[in-house]
Amino acid sequence: MITNQEDGFLRDIWYFAVRSDELKLGCLLSLKLLGEPIVLGRKKTGQPFALRDICPHRGIPLSDGRLIGDELECCYHGWRFNSEGTCICIPSLTEDQNLELSRIKVPNYPVQELSGCIWIFMPSDFRNMELKKIPPTVPDVFSKPAMTEKLTFPCHIDHAVIGLMDPAHGPFVHQSWWWRSRKSVHTKSKVFGPTDLGFAMLKHKPSSNSLAYKILGRDIETEITFRLPGIRIETIHVGRNLVVGLTTVTPIDRKTTQINHLVFWSMSYLWLIKPFLKPFLKRFLQQDRDIVEKQQRGLQYEHNLMLINDADVQAKWYFRLKKSYGDAAKNKEPFINPVELTTLNWRS
Ligand code: FES
Ligand SMILES: [Fe+2]
Repeated sequence: MITNQEDGFLRDIWYFAVRSDELKLGCLLSLKLLGEPIVLGRKKTGQPFALRDICPHRGIPLSDGRLIGDELECCYHGWRFNSEGTCICIPSLTEDQNLELSRIKVPNYPVQELSGCIWIFMPSDFRNMELKKIPPTVPDVFSKPAMTEKLTFPCHIDHAVIGLMDPAHGPFVHQSWWWRSRKSVHTKSKVFGPTDLGFAMLKHKPSSNSLAYKILGRDIETEITFRLPGIRIETIHVGRNLVVGLTTVTPIDRKTTQINHLVFWSMSYLWLIKPFLKPFLKRFLQQDRDIVEKQQRGLQYEHNLMLINDADVQAKWYFRLKKSYGDAAKNKEPFINPVELTTLNWRS
């Protein structure tokens, strides 16, 4: 199966699929990623697997069937598949009908589970799959996130990514007493450099106008990395402690994008204030969602984007990185990162 390349989705790369706790042992989970139907399950050992969610016999979603041990049984005629997607039983066959079952296959997606996250590799061509690198990781001191939030944005992944990374919308979209106000706007100057599949805002002291950082303490440094296909990792050092925010942007289809925000922390006092923090996180992401929803109303008439210096340079980098990665994967060449060490200045 060769996938649709016209949808503007990067392939041959790892995407965040679901949190580990969303995939229960013994259950099948059906989801759509990049417009493709996928069924996720766990083997008896707990190891996750992912297959195309369509029975090769007559097209029923395999997720409507059941998981028996490590095998998936289709609900229509009971064909069984192992977790690699190979057919191992067709109940209607008589003993003298020898159909070669091993030739009947359901496409099988590579899956990895790391720090409470399940990642799926989305290939451009299943017959000719070249596994690229490992999914993005948070420091392995964290086995699972402490706080999570999930939201669906009604837009293409590109708008979700550039909307979330946009440094200039803060005082307008996220205006609030605990984040920032229009009055607190001042000039920022931040140094960026290339990283693995993306770029980083190098380690710095966070903005003095963010109360959200102030509650963590005084001795704070933060580093924010962005990498393809749409992964932002903010690592905040608070003295010897660590808070990591992982934001993942995954296309469901051309007009729907899922955002997962996962926070990991090493300090126990944050557990006490978690019930207060969660509504803020939710509200913050909701504000980003609401603004892209409004944007969609305009974009249906006018598709052109205007990206200016320096506030939209990260958005420009995103498109350049995407093109570079896509070309490299297509031509089977090494990826060349187009980002260089740069200082960006903007007011927010
Ligand atoms: S459709 Fe799945 S077994 Fe027939
Ligand atoms: Fe935002």
